[in-house]
Amino acid sequence: MIELKKLSVSLKNEKILHNINLIIPEKKTTVIAGKSGSGKSVLIKTIEGIITPVQGTVIIDGIDIFKLNNKKLYQLRQKMSLLFQSSALFDSMNIYQNIAFPLVEHSNYTNKEIDFLIEQKLRLVDLSETQNKMPSDLSGGMKKRAALARAIINNPKYIFYDEPTTGLDPKVSNEIIDLIISIKKELNHTVVVITHDLNCLRKTADYIVFLEKGKVMFTGDYHSFINCKDPACKQFLE
Ligand SMILES: Nc1ncnc2c1ncn2[C@@H]1O[C@H](COP(=O)(O)OP(=O)(O)OP(=O)(O)O)[C@@H](O)[C@H]1O
Ligand SMILES: [Mg+2]
Repeated sequence: MIELKKLSVSLKNEKILHNINLIIPEKKTTVIAGKSGSGKSVLIKTIEGIITPVQGTVIIDGIDIFKLNNKKLYQLRQKMSLLFQSSALFDSMNIYQNIAFPLVEHSNYTNKEIDFLIEQKLRLVDLSETQNKMPSDLSGGMKKRAALARAIINNPKYIFYDEPTTGLDPKVSNEIIDLIISIKKELNHTVVVITHDLNCLRKTADYIVFLEKGKVMFTGDYHSFINCKDPACKQFLE
């Protein structure tokens, strides 16, 4: 479980996150929503231990991550995976090499086991037969799916998707949303989706956290969110 306690973050002397108390439930999909600049990405970077808070902390599986040394933090991060907004595939590597990258870096798998895992994950994202292609040979949606396969190759306990549908046309965007849902079913992991896409929110969220100017303005399910009386929530939903 991920727990944020009285978390405040300042960057360049500006307070970005204000006293955030939050529990991200296990094995559910939590959507962190809010308009541009509300602090969604900073929140995720703090959960990953990339940004250090000025006050409060992040507890993951009972461990205060800011009390860990670098080696222990690195080990804890192996449980987490982040799908960046840009797919961030390595242009000079083919799809097989891109997806194998986290495995080659961090594990003791044999080549045969790596082959098996890559085939399995590529099937899951509906990209079989693309192993030898280069990223430049793939469409935007296919690149996103390949990046998704790479993000789940280590069977992470926690997966974060930062704006998974931004920049995609509605059809491809819906395909990625369906994939996020089917991968969740398959791996039964804890998912955090950051988005300002209402369609993505509606389809994926078990639980919603709404941020406005670095503060949590709402937590709850979709039904309560659409009935939320807070002006910032209402404006977001318009
Ligand atoms: N490295 C940084 N140094 C200083 N300020 C930063 C830094 N990163 C983010 N900020 C500021 O923190 C605030 C929150 O930024 P953040 O990237 O978390 O927003 P966001 O909700 O993810 O927005 P978007 O939807 O556009 O991705 C913004 O005002 C931004 O300018
Ligand atoms: Mg962001």
